[in-house]
Amino acid sequence: MKALVLAGGSGSRLRPITHTSAKQLVPVANKPVLFYGLEAIRDAGIREVGIVVGDTAAEIQDAVGDGSRFGLQVTYLPQDAPRGLAHAVLIAREYLGDDDFVMYLGDNFVVGGIDGIVRRFRQERPDAQIMLTRVSDPRAFGVAELDGDGRVVGLEEKPEHPKSDLALVGVYIFGPRVHDAVARLKPSWRDELEITDAIQGLIDTGGRVESTVISGYWKDTGNVTDMLEVNRLVLEDVEPSVAGAVDASSELIGRVVVEAGATVAGSRIVGPVIVGAGTVVRDSYLGPFTSIGRDCRVIDSEIEYSIVLRGASIDGVGRIEASLIGREAEVTPAPNVPRAHRLVLGDHSKVQIRQ
Ligand code: G1P
Repeated sequence: MKALVLAGGSGSRLRPITHTSAKQLVPVANKPVLFYGLEAIRDAGIREVGIVVGDTAAEIQDAVGDGSRFGLQVTYLPQDAPRGLAHAVLIAREYLGDDDFVMYLGDNFVVGGIDGIVRRFRQERPDAQIMLTRVSDPRAFGVAELDGDGRVVGLEEKPEHPKSDLALVGVYIFGPRVHDAVARLKPSWRDELEITDAIQGLIDTGGRVESTVISGYWKDTGNVTDMLEVNRLVLEDVEPSVAGAVDASSELIGRVVVEAGATVAGSRIVGPVIVGAGTVVRDSYLGPFTSIGRDCRVIDSEIEYSIVLRGASIDGVGRIEASLIGREAEVTPAPNVPRAHRLVLGDHSKVQIRQ
């Protein structure tokens, strides 16, 4: 079995933090979301991975390299434009040969990995195995309709009137028959070759499509609440480790990771918390479910249940909660007179200010 990982697309739809880079590299607990996918693929016993890349190919290749550090053999498959998920299968036809394959959308996060469904596929050998999850707004997804026995009877891509709240998760397993279905596809209303339509094609031609309903699924839709929540979920399982320098006047409580080159001085950290490499935390408090990226500065401040991305600086601002602070952002106190907020906010930013 091989894996086909999709890491094209620019992420322009996703805000507030991914509009400048590959959406698959959005960090969850200081690690790009794509890496969790690659690890899940490896943990399911798969070694050969084709990664489909587009405009952000350089960034993705920089991050993943030849895959050896994940225990994978990675082949990059360039896609000239985002022409749909099924188009990615089309251009990977030669790479995939007639092998079974997992197709994994690089911006999707599946809690608990894919080992279980890969095993199920190997036992039952359907033509396609899909994963579904209940979502509040199915119109943003591919949506499945099941019969009384839980069998998939129909699929629709981004329907205006969804027939269920079961969304297609971006992890699919296919046998070689999918290639015939892909070859028959016509572009959809959004001018893409839809994998959803290919799976429908399999059903229509008598193929067997199995589904599993999962919980613990996340994808960055620009919703900060969801992002904080997936960060919390991952931090729940973090193993404590201190590679950086923590001075004697600091206190670390619970599961705290201090990465190499980070320094913590005069501070109290109540885990689970991760402090990225090269970051300085001084005279501060970091509370549960906080991820501080690398090369940040947190001075004389309190931060809880928040994500701070690489290179941000937070200095002398009191308490911050449930916040997402972007790369290289600076948060500092306003001068006392006049008493006013002074803001430089990027497009589509959201700020909540105490009245
Ligand atoms: C794609 C699929 C959709 C699926 C979603 C999951 O949507 O077309 O069926 O539910 O991924 O991430 P897209 O990301 O292209 O909007």
